[in-house]
Amino acid sequence: MFDMLPNQWTPTVPLIELAGNGPFRIEIAGDAVVAFRGPNGQIATLIDRCPHRSARLSNGTVQPDGLLRCPYHGWRFDDRGDCKQVPLNDLGEEQRQRLCVTRVPSIELAGCLWIYTGLDTDTTPHLPASLDGDPTQFHVATETWQTHWTRAVENFIDFSHLAYVHEKTIGGFMHQGAENDAVVSSRIDATDWGFINTHSFSEGPGFRLDWYRPNRTTLHFGPTDESKLNIFSVPISEELTRVMTCRQLPEGAELSEWQKAHEAAGNPVLGEDRVIVEAQTGAIRTDGSEVSVPTDGPTVAFRRWYREAVLDAA
Ligand code: FES
Ligand SMILES: [Fe+2]
Repeated sequence: MFDMLPNQWTPTVPLIELAGNGPFRIEIAGDAVVAFRGPNGQIATLIDRCPHRSARLSNGTVQPDGLLRCPYHGWRFDDRGDCKQVPLNDLGEEQRQRLCVTRVPSIELAGCLWIYTGLDTDTTPHLPASLDGDPTQFHVATETWQTHWTRAVENFIDFSHLAYVHEKTIGGFMHQGAENDAVVSSRIDATDWGFINTHSFSEGPGFRLDWYRPNRTTLHFGPTDESKLNIFSVPISEELTRVMTCRQLPEGAELSEWQKAHEAAGNPVLGEDRVIVEAQTGAIRTDGSEVSVPTDGPTVAFRRWYREAVLDAA
């Protein structure tokens, strides 16, 4: 289960896509979960596969009592995945207990539904202040990229491409220097959630980015600007990644207004990254067949973690 990214908390989709009771199918890390609102109105997440004959539970219906009914033979499951009813069969409680669906831990945070890609956990996602607060007060914009999630993560923790990929937008200040022998020095401070990467650049302002295991980058714009952009690279399958940018709304702002403004403006900077990343092949290489230099410190650190936490674990 979730072999692409086992035993991690990751956001999946924006909460705004989960309006109503569901059920909703969410493809994540090579598997799929079904999300629905149970009897208490909370979102529940189960593996999207009926234990009977593997029908998709997300093609079923949420009953008025909050139970999820399988579309094939009508078995009903509660928000913990326990089987509550098996039509046309007179089964006892004990027999039904063996017919449950696997439950997946989930939580609503920072405008998204997060899941834990494992069976059980006593942890919660580590969130900085910029993602804390009422989960409905965030604007989350999504794009689906044709790439492996590790390529997307690396793009968002890579500083030196700004000078070329973003020469005409946010990297203009670096381009001239890069073409004239400027050198960047980059420093990585490991933290208990990932690392902080700071750069100093002889030709212009420095830059800071934070990487949070497994798939979040926080970009800090300039030393004094408190505005921070959070970017998630969410694995859907080996070939598809959901890139989500997430911002806390200012006090009193209306989510639908933000939505409209964002749709009108789009995100040209992400578009510049996307062209490059979608043309890279497969997942990142951890076999030495891609070479690295000092400005690759952050991606080399990410590769080390990926090899140990994902590849070796699988
Ligand atoms: S496959 Fe779900 S009830 Fe038969
Ligand atoms: Fe970029």
